[in-house]
Amino acid sequence: MHSLRGFLYGVLLLLLCVCALGADAKEQAPLKSKYNTASRNVAIIGAGSAGASTAYYLRKFAELSGVPPNITVFERETYIGGRSTTVDVFDNPSYPVELGASIFVSINHNLMDAAKELGLKISSAGGDRPKDSDKMLGIWDGDSFVYTQGHSLSWWEMAKLLWRYGLAPIRIQSLMKNTVNKFLEMYKPPYFPFSSLSSAVQALDLLQATAVTGAQFLETNGISKSFSNEIIQSSTRVNYGQNLGLIHGLETMVCMATDGAVAIEDGNWRIFSGMLDSSRADIRLNSTVTAIEVNSDETLTLSYSINGSSISSSTFDDIVIAAPFQYSNIELSPSLESIPDKVPYVKLYVTLFASPHRISPQYFNLSKQKDVPDMILTTLPKGLDLGSREDGVGPTSFWSISLLRIVEAPAEGPHQQHYVYKVFSPERPTAGFLASVLGVEIPEANQNGTIGDISRKDVSWVHEKTWHPYPYEYPRVTFEKIRLASNIWYTGGIESFISTMETSSLMGMNVAGLMTNEWQDKLQLGKPVNWSGWAGQRNREL
Ligand SMILES: Cc1cc2nc3c(=O)[nH]c(=O)nc-3n(C[C@H](O)[C@H](O)[C@H](O)COP(=O)(O)OP(=O)(O)OC[C@H]3O[C@@H](n4cnc5c(N)ncnc54)[C@H](O)[C@@H]3O)c2cc1C
Ligand SMILES: *[C@@H]1O[C@H](CO)[C@@H](O)[C@H](O)[C@H]1NC(C)=O
Ligand SMILES: *[C@@H]1O[C@H](CO)[C@@H](O)[C@H](O)[C@H]1NC(C)=O
Ligand SMILES: *[C@@H]1O[C@H](CO)[C@@H](O)[C@H](O)[C@H]1NC(C)=O
Ligand SMILES: *[C@@H]1O[C@H](CO)[C@@H](O)[C@H](O)[C@H]1NC(C)=O
Ligand SMILES: *[C@@H]1O[C@H](CO)[C@@H](O)[C@H](O)[C@H]1NC(C)=O
Ligand SMILES: *[C@@H]1O[C@H](CO)[C@@H](O)[C@H](O)[C@H]1NC(C)=O
Repeated sequence: MHSLRGFLYGVLLLLLCVCALGADAKEQAPLKSKYNTASRNVAIIGAGSAGASTAYYLRKFAELSGVPPNITVFERETYIGGRSTTVDVFDNPSYPVELGASIFVSINHNLMDAAKELGLKISSAGGDRPKDSDKMLGIWDGDSFVYTQGHSLSWWEMAKLLWRYGLAPIRIQSLMKNTVNKFLEMYKPPYFPFSSLSSAVQALDLLQATAVTGAQFLETNGISKSFSNEIIQSSTRVNYGQNLGLIHGLETMVCMATDGAVAIEDGNWRIFSGMLDSSRADIRLNSTVTAIEVNSDETLTLSYSINGSSISSSTFDDIVIAAPFQYSNIELSPSLESIPDKVPYVKLYVTLFASPHRISPQYFNLSKQKDVPDMILTTLPKGLDLGSREDGVGPTSFWSISLLRIVEAPAEGPHQQHYVYKVFSPERPTAGFLASVLGVEIPEANQNGTIGDISRKDVSWVHEKTWHPYPYEYPRVTFEKIRLASNIWYTGGIESFISTMETSSLMGMNVAGLMTNEWQDKLQLGKPVNWSGWAGQRNREL
């Protein structure tokens, strides 16, 4: 199959060269001065999911269109992956843990397909998590656990769920499936590739979910308040740092679509690194794009600095901004008609640490160690509704504490096992808080300090990071433009619709599709791309 594709691609290239030669000699010369027909020079800003996917699909679609792209990717960080990145516990490369995006799900076509094609190992999420406690999961409201679950949902736990929440646990499943199925239409014609996200969302009847809060959406669909507040809200809090009175209905459904949760062994960023390799893009790390200038012949001049030093520039036919515009610090000149609006982003504090201690039962007012859940999610206590407040964490003060894995501590006697934890919180946790969660004593003077003030014998390794991980997903009915100007494309608008690695990848693929259509059109290369054919082919290969 691959060799056949390679052969066809060779033939297309050859045809293209012949056509270009023909055009050169005749009256089409003015078109050619504007339009580089031999190949298009494309710059992609950002080597995260969106940028890597744009490059990967541009290369794939070149086989359909016959316009080979010459792709350069600019990334200001020292690494590929953006918000998907790992750090190594004790700096030991055999202990990587996710610092950013940690899971995706089996209906995520782009990530699953790419992982398979790239030969990456997909493992079930949390597969490294030791079953150290009797409880896999607990939902804490700051006073008590409103819900706990064992390592598999036993008939007894299921019975308790139904007793307490009625049919809500079943009803939510079908509501979620129904919503997800509409979303999946975005991967194929007549929707794909969509030139307007707002129009696609409307045509797919998804506005009813994005236009209202999660609380309203669930209520309209007959899900009981107690199930929403106790169970569903713990998921919107751990996934997005927001309560149901703020986050929209569609993102709430995404939080419920956790069937087949998986991750790439050794790090999800490997998908994006593999995509970039297979796109044959020229990748420029440590390269910060500072400005884009629109030239009179429709080409674009991009300025960038390497290693923070002086500015260089290059000219491109197309530029894809594959990062949240508001954090990219890119100057556009002349100023464009549509510049993406600034949207409020969540501030999330991630604390990763290793310790010889288990989580203290005392902190959670439990008597037995075995009862402390491996994964502690949170919700608001009954009767407390913080509505759409962005500072909505409430009495728990954190979003989640989870046990990730057990590692062997270096140079601390033979085979000493340490536990690795991840804490999500809106503020930097104090030493006092973390010490009491671990059940260790620290001097009074250090209570207000940071995790570094806890003794090395109690916290043996730490990595802290503040992220702007996702927007506050306020209800909305319109989304940012994808085409900001002639030949300038933007992926970030999809984050206000659904903010995940997969949706960024979908938008990258979509931009690649739109660019391919436009090249086909402007270069008059004959028949337009048959996207149904492509989507059908893709599904057969799954
Ligand atoms: C802690 C955390 C947990 C998360 N959990 C999940 C999860 O479990 N599952 C999930 O699917 N998603 C999760 N997400 C969200 C997910 O990470 C993002 O939705 C997705 O990775 C965004 O990809 P992107 O390519 O659109 O943006 P990014 O990954 O942010 O990539 C943009 C890139 O552009 C670069 N850049 C920006 N400006 C410039 C410039 N001027 N010049 C050069 N380069 C520039 C940036 O350095 C960055 O690398 C999580 C995010 C975080 C932070
Ligand atoms: C590809 O793009 C790079 C960066 O703009 C440029 O230096 C190079 O000449 C281009 N190659 C071709 C074959 O156009
Ligand atoms: C990027 O910068 C880092 C840190 O300064 C350096 O270690 C790395 O070698 C640089 N990479 C490239 C490709 O310039
Ligand atoms: C950036 O700096 C690193 C060292 O910190 C160096 O190895 C690398 O070559 C530099 N990159 C460029 C493109 O100059
Ligand atoms: C802890 O649990 C005990 C017994 O269940 C209860 O009496 C007490 O009020 C609880 N304390 C807190 C702080 O919740
Ligand atoms: C810690 O902070 C609290 C609340 O801000 C304050 O009352 C207390 O005096 C501080 N303790 C120390 C040791 O600084
Ligand atoms: C596109 O491909 C599909 C599936 O292979 C085929 O049924 C259809 O006729 C094609 N359409 C066109 C316009 O060629």
